[in-house]
Amino acid sequence: MPNQPPIVPMSSPDLTDLERQAVMDVLNTPDLSMGKRIEAFEASMSAFSGCRHAVGVSSGTAGLHLCVRAAGIGAGDLVITTPFSFVASANVLLFEGAAPVFVDVDPRTGNLLPDLVEEAARDLSSGSAITRRRWLPRRGVDETGKLKAILAVDVFGQPADYDPLRRTADRYGLKLIEDSCEALGAEYKGRKAGALADYGVYAFYPNKQITTGEGGVIVTDNQAAAQMMRALRNQGRAPGDTWLQHTYLGYNYRLDEMSAALGAAQMTRLPELLEKRQQVADWYAERLAEIPGVQPPQLADTTSRVSWFVFVIHLRPGIDRARLAARLGDYGIPVRPYFLPIHLQPYMVDRFGFEPGDFPVTEDLGERGLALPFSGKMSQEQVDLVCKTLRDCLLE
Ligand SMILES: Cc1ncc(COP(=O)(O)O)c(C=O)c1O
Repeated sequence: MPNQPPIVPMSSPDLTDLERQAVMDVLNTPDLSMGKRIEAFEASMSAFSGCRHAVGVSSGTAGLHLCVRAAGIGAGDLVITTPFSFVASANVLLFEGAAPVFVDVDPRTGNLLPDLVEEAARDLSSGSAITRRRWLPRRGVDETGKLKAILAVDVFGQPADYDPLRRTADRYGLKLIEDSCEALGAEYKGRKAGALADYGVYAFYPNKQITTGEGGVIVTDNQAAAQMMRALRNQGRAPGDTWLQHTYLGYNYRLDEMSAALGAAQMTRLPELLEKRQQVADWYAERLAEIPGVQPPQLADTTSRVSWFVFVIHLRPGIDRARLAARLGDYGIPVRPYFLPIHLQPYMVDRFGFEPGDFPVTEDLGERGLALPFSGKMSQEQVDLVCKTLRDCLLE
């Protein structure tokens, strides 16, 4: 059978007339950037997260980059982070000439293992070159570089384990950054994801829990950092600078008014959007329990609420994922391998000399993970169809 166009979309934004009207209202004003919509959107994100400050930016990547700048991470510095993530969480370190110190992850959730992070932080804070060496990439790194931060990622909508990460950060004087780009609405021991570190970042690409087209928001309680981030997103203009005065080297990471209006409208629907995603995840979990060879997503005890971003299953070792994905494609069911480990991306290998086998759990998850079509707009019939086709393809 020839490869069919998808009969179920991989993901889809959930938009109504409320969002359409909100964007149209902006287009009927002359204020398309830096107006009252971004202020309103930031206020809603601040209220939602419980953080004092929210800074709207043009993408999650831009937000993470500003966290790196605000944390004072620069050339030669080291940051402990995860190889099991979307590349942006590590790339932002490279933007500033810092190096990632990858540590392996929890096989159940794909999130950082706090014990390994503690061990790495302890060793990298020691003066012994031999003790430090074990954690460093093979090349492309300043071996005497200073450990500055931990950058954790809330993978697939489930928060990492922040209580022990916080203790490690405090013990070794490190900043803690939370990449919550996949986890808006998730909760860790009853606390909101995104608000669990010194700085947190949400992202709003169209496959996310809410969308602004492109966009992100940083949340923090740190006023000085928030002020610096506002300046850096706006071409380095400090408070009081005119349009052509630039106190700092900055960027254009502004979120425009149409995107902000869309985001604010989506935020008013967040409970409904999260519930719909939960319903689809529940249908999947029910159907998948009947399919041998397939492991549904697993939740940590510390996750008091998961905020479903993608729905990633793991295939039993020995199942040929590429063949399965191709067969599903033949039936019009799109799927994606998720994640391809960051340390094995070609530019990472070139720069740091990573090799297969360096982070076995990440690699194993990366080899067996398969994201199924997922959005809050999926019907029960669509979930049934995906699961039935998956079962048929596995039996072929
Ligand atoms: C874990 C993680 N970090 C960062 C990002 C980057 O967000 P954006 O695409 O908005 O730049 C994403 C986006 O998919 C992500 O999943």
